[in-house]
Amino acid sequence: MAEVRFERWEGPEAAGQLDAFLPAYEEVYAEPPYCEGPRDVAEFIDHYGQQIRSRPGFRLVVAYGGGQVVGFGYGYRLPADTKWWANLLDPVCAEFGRETGVRTFAVIELAVRKPWRRRGVAAGLHARLLEGLAVERVTLTVRPEAEAAPARAAYAAWGYRTVGRSHPWPEAPVYDAMVLDLR
Ligand SMILES: CC(C)(COP(=O)(O)OP(=O)(O)OC[C@H]1O[C@@H](n2cnc3c(N)ncnc32)[C@H](O)[C@@H]1OP(=O)(O)O)[C@@H](O)C(=O)NCCC(=O)NCCS
Repeated sequence: MAEVRFERWEGPEAAGQLDAFLPAYEEVYAEPPYCEGPRDVAEFIDHYGQQIRSRPGFRLVVAYGGGQVVGFGYGYRLPADTKWWANLLDPVCAEFGRETGVRTFAVIELAVRKPWRRRGVAAGLHARLLEGLAVERVTLTVRPEAEAAPARAAYAAWGYRTVGRSHPWPEAPVYDAMVLDLR
């Protein structure tokens, strides 16, 4: 296996990396169950820029192998006024859903190009996303379909537990919301 190298960017410096990892995004999310097309990709580009501008603690990690991007992951800290927990279909208790701006890191994307899977690339991305974070817990959402089984298996292997079902916007699928306790 060609050696895999990881690089991390924080906040606004992550904006300049979009062009580098976008082809990997398009390739991975064209697969089922995501089946994203040009309109989804355009929305992603828009959201990525907005998230960098508006979310404190934004972090991007990119994996390179054989001279190209082979995977990437990013996330940010949930702000105190986040709707993250309000999107759960079954309400959580007030203390669980309380955010302070420094309590929870949300992993928003994690993707590895097919030829590079099952070699620990996602595990490397995930470890570097969380490295040194002073948060209490990490959260993410994952689709329930069988095609998302690799992601579900990875999250379970890393210690995440399902805390409910999330429906973040009307046209969105229903996701499982998961949490990894760091303390
Ligand atoms: C999910 C994904 C990022 C995993 O990437 P990866 O680099 O292959 O993952 P890793 O090699 O680091 O695997 C970590 C662990 O996850 C589990 N795992 C990953 N893929 C698996 C699979 N196909 N079947 C069973 N377990 C799997 C294993 O426990 C694995 O550890 P092991 O190889 O030591 O057994 C990759 O499959 C992917 O990009 N899928 C499409 C995009 C996606 O679904 N992203 C998540 C959005 S929520």
